[in-house]
Amino acid sequence: MIVDAEGAVLCVRRGAKGFPSTANKWEFPGGKLEPGETPAQAAVREVREELGLEIEALAECAAVRHVYPEFAITLHGVLCAPVGGGRPSPALREHTDFDWCPPDKLWRHDFAAADTPLQAHLRERFFGSRLRTATFGRQARFLQSCDSTNTALLALAEAGAPEGTLVVTEEQTAGRGRLGRAWASPPGQCLTFSLLARPKAPPEVAATLPLVAGLAVATALRARGFEAGLKWPNDVLLGDRKACGILCEAQTSARGIEGIVVGIGINTGAVPEALAHRAVGLGGVDRLALLAEVCAAFEARYARWAKGGLPALRAELDALDCKRGKAILVRPAGGTLEGVSRGIRDDGALLLERGGQIEPILCGEIAQWD
Ligand code: BTN
Repeated sequence: MIVDAEGAVLCVRRGAKGFPSTANKWEFPGGKLEPGETPAQAAVREVREELGLEIEALAECAAVRHVYPEFAITLHGVLCAPVGGGRPSPALREHTDFDWCPPDKLWRHDFAAADTPLQAHLRERFFGSRLRTATFGRQARFLQSCDSTNTALLALAEAGAPEGTLVVTEEQTAGRGRLGRAWASPPGQCLTFSLLARPKAPPEVAATLPLVAGLAVATALRARGFEAGLKWPNDVLLGDRKACGILCEAQTSARGIEGIVVGIGINTGAVPEALAHRAVGLGGVDRLALLAEVCAAFEARYARWAKGGLPALRAELDALDCKRGKAILVRPAGGTLEGVSRGIRDDGALLLERGGQIEPILCGEIAQWD
């Protein structure tokens, strides 16, 4: 955790003037000012002189580290924490565009944990050229390894991370699935990430967000030619095998739901032999490109859902619901029911027809493999 002597954190908005980003682990050396130069201008000049990089190029390269001795800046110039004591000088404040975060909004993750060659590579390629969203994925943490991206993002959410924040990792040591199950994401074979949403919706509408995420993933995969479908409540299947799992977890306070972490695990490579009867991989895709595509697909659907709830996505929901009209086995809490799926209701419930009656199933899952 990087804080100044008074526990303050400095947040810099995207595109802040005068904040260069630079290559991974590069330390800004001197911080000597030319006459009439502000610290921010000095940083820009020294980056240009020392690294031969123009500030515009640097702004695209999100591998931001120590830029000026008193500062450490994280991704994309979004989050900046004073290090080594002291607040930014009035001159620097004048030439930048930032907000102070109160200490209780401190981002609790250690920057160093994210500082790997993989991360630099991911950031450069991903942020430099692929992301087409306004919000989702715009602030991001790329971690080589973590317990669970949901856990990491919940901590960031608690600390005040904004809507759209993304945590992506190569490896989870304690990945979580639905209903208390573990979720394995073998390195190199998965796209494993979480996105932070802060919907204003009432809890009963917020509860349908996993379906929105499922639609987004299925749509992104279909755009790449995969015959992806949604299986209630939030699995994405190729054929009858699972290619993606989604786990949404809420950040709550006494006021209610403050945020929802949407955790998504996509089998992008091969799946272990032992799981091959029920899981399927995409056979190798550009994970960063897919990540950008899912962010964009999610953002578009989220905007419609935020205004009109699930009904705003009705046509897509019916089209992508791959179990609609089919005989299914449902496992609600403590039982198993057999019937025919009649689709997904506006409140997210599965409609199950049995013995001529249609009944809503509010929670549980469609069983599929045994
Ligand atoms: C399921 O199908 O049971 C849900 C699986 C969700 C897995 C993802 S991977 C990213 C995020 N982090 C986690 O620990 N879980 C979700």
